[in-house]
Order: sequence, then C-alpha cells, then structure tokens
Amino acid sequence: MKILVTGGAGFIGSAVVRYINRHTDDHIVNVDKLTYAGNLENLAEVSQSDRYAFEHTDICDRLQIERIFTEHQPDAIMHLAAESHVDRSIDAPAAFIETNVIGTYTLLEVARGYWQELPDERKRTFRFHHVSTDEVYGDLPHPADESGAEHHLFTETTAYTPSSPYSASKASADHLVRAWSRTYGLPVLVTNCSNNYGPYHFPEKLIPLTILNALEGRPLPVYGSGDQIRDWLYVEDHAHALYTVLTRGKLGETYNIGGNNEKQNIEVVRAICDLLQELAPPSAGASFQSYRELITFTSDRPGHDRRYAIDASKIEHDLNWQPAETFDTGLRKTVEWFLANLDWCHRAQGNYGRQRLGQSR
Ligand SMILES: NC(=O)c1ccc[n+]([C@@H]2O[C@H](COP(=O)([O-])OP(=O)(O)OC[C@H]3O[C@@H](n4cnc5c(N)ncnc54)[C@H](O)[C@@H]3O)[C@@H](O)[C@H]2O)c1
Repeated sequence: MKILVTGGAGFIGSAVVRYINRHTDDHIVNVDKLTYAGNLENLAEVSQSDRYAFEHTDICDRLQIERIFTEHQPDAIMHLAAESHVDRSIDAPAAFIETNVIGTYTLLEVARGYWQELPDERKRTFRFHHVSTDEVYGDLPHPADESGAEHHLFTETTAYTPSSPYSASKASADHLVRAWSRTYGLPVLVTNCSNNYGPYHFPEKLIPLTILNALEGRPLPVYGSGDQIRDWLYVEDHAHALYTVLTRGKLGETYNIGGNNEKQNIEVVRAICDLLQELAPPSAGASFQSYRELITFTSDRPGHDRRYAIDASKIEHDLNWQPAETFDTGLRKTVEWFLANLDWCHRAQGNYGRQRLGQSR
C-alpha cells in the first residue's frame, strides 16, 4: 500500500513514518511544509529508502496537493500536519486556522475528487485517516475540585468543548472530516489522542523543555500550581496505534488513544528532575544540588484546561491495541534519548531561537 502522510517531518508524523518503514512493506509519501516544527533529521533512517518520497509542500496549496495525488496515486492518507502548540495558538491563532482548518478542508476536497475517480476495487479500500487530539473535548472535572472526578473520562461520544484556539481549530477539522464522510461518503477514520512524549519531541513542549532547561541550570517554570492533569502516551505507542487504526479500524469510526497515565504536570517535572539526578547529576560547581530546586511556579495560562483523561477501551477491545510503555519506562527512555541527542535539540532550537518557555502541548 502507498500511504500519503502529512506532517511526516514533525514529532508524531516522523514516528509514524519510521514505524511504517521499520515494520511494514508499505510505501510512504511525506507531505510537509517544514515549519519551525518540521525537521528532516527526524527521518534520517528512512531518507534513502526506495519506499519513501518527500514532497516539500503546504497542505493549503491545492494545486500542489492535486499534483501530488495524481503523481503518487496513494491508497490511504494519514493526516497529521498541523500547527500544534497551544501557547503559540494563544499568541498568534491565524496559522492554526490556516493549516488546521483550511489545510484539512483542502486535503478533504482533493481526496474526495481523487477517490471518486478511483476504480471500484481501489475506491473500496481507500481511507482518509485524520489524526486529532483529546483537547477537542475540553477539560474534565479535577479530583481536587470534585469528589469522584477521577471516574470521568473522555469517550468517543464526549461532546466537543474546545478551550484554546489550537483545540478549536482541531475540533473544526474533526467536524469537517466527519461532514465529508456523511455528505460525500468519503471513507474516513478519526483518532483523538492524549499528550504524546518521546524522542524527537520539539523542545518547546513541557517534557523536552524541562530536560534541556534543567541541564542548563535554568528555572523550570510550571504553570499555576502544576496540578493540571494530562494523560501521557509514548509516541511510538501512538504510531503503532495509528497504523492499527488505519489498517484495521472500521470506516467512519472514531477511536480514542491514550496511555492510562494520568499525571499532574508537577509530578512529570519532578519525575524528570529525579531521572536527571540519577543519569546526569549536577556538576560539583553548580549553584544547586538537586534539579528539583530549579522548579518555579508562574502565572497560569489563560483558559488552561484542568484535566484530560482518555478512555481507550474501544481501541483496546476492538483492535487489540495496548501501549507497550508505562509512564516510568517511557519517560526513562525519553530522558536517555535526549541526553544522547543534545546536538539534535540544539539544532532544533536553532530553528526558532530560544522561545519564551512553553509548557504542556
Ligand atoms: N503532540 C501531541 O501530544 C499530540 C497529541 C494528540 C494529537 N496530536 C496531533 O498530531 C499531529 C502531529 O502533532 P505533532 O506533535 O507531531 O506536531 P508537530 O508540530 O511536531 O509537527 C507538525 C508537522 O506538520 C508540518 N506542517 C505544519 N503546517 C503545515 C502545512 N501547512 N502544510 C504541510 N505541513 C505542515 C510541520 O512542518 C511539522 O512537520 C497534529 O495534528 C496534532 O494536532 C498531537
């Protein structure tokens, strides 16, 4: 099968491309604009493969997207290209509307025209897989505010109440994808996933930023009291889940993907500090003895969601998918990867200069 992956040079997209290249015989066409978040270094291991092609293109460019469909004749689309950072969406939402809404619309329209012209056999097996986030569901009650809150989870039928420009743009895209299925019959799949972490995570997000700031002895800012809860999933488990849904998911369905790892942001930051303390202790001349001393609390993000937690039982039962990593094993692998790849981090940071300190995703 030939799969057109959008956003394949990003954090999750590159994990998907590497997964497909390592574990299948499929061909991949990676369509990526290479924004500050796109990095072809993430794909060094696949770049020479004769099953991989790269198209440096904006998904909003309809003529180019039509050319790519015509030239490559894909059997399936995995759509990951997006502006993905919540803090950036608060400061400058326009790019989020462009890429996440207009870009998704453009892909849907081109895919629809292409799919309608396919011969019957290929038309039956074609699929458009839209990759989305649990942030479209808004937030859940927090155990600190409400007893029994821990029993509330996002399911595939939870109503959409997005809070940030990022999550609103992703919610819009999800609605468009479902409308193209309902109205035009386009064969679609939608997945909504919790916070990812792991190798090649762009160093503006909470986990990589905490690792890098700690190693430089800089403050480790935590929004509010740090009690916001996120549900963490190791990125390679997400890549496996996405390929599982693409190949075995039921058309028209939505699957929530999560790692059953609810953690408060402050717990995540402390766990990173403790791993660094073991793996890369502060030098004798450092002005601090424990990385935990660097934690500082800052004013909270506007509209900050209190808690996300995914009920992933549908994908577990229907498609027999389970995450391979616990939060402890995945976080240890992640910290080890960043310690071994500090050059990659500094080059990635060079793409956008030292930003103000972003948190969460
Ligand atoms: N990171 C998470 O925790 C998370 C969780 C759930 C869902 N998601 C979703 O997964 C997808 C990938 O997220 P990520 O964290 O890898 O993002 P990322 O920011 O690391 O990567 C996005 C990629 O899309 C590319 N891109 C951006 N605009 C483009 C455009 N107009 N045309 C073509 N390419 C463009 C970028 O160059 C980059 O390679 C997104 O759709 C995101 O909403 C992310």
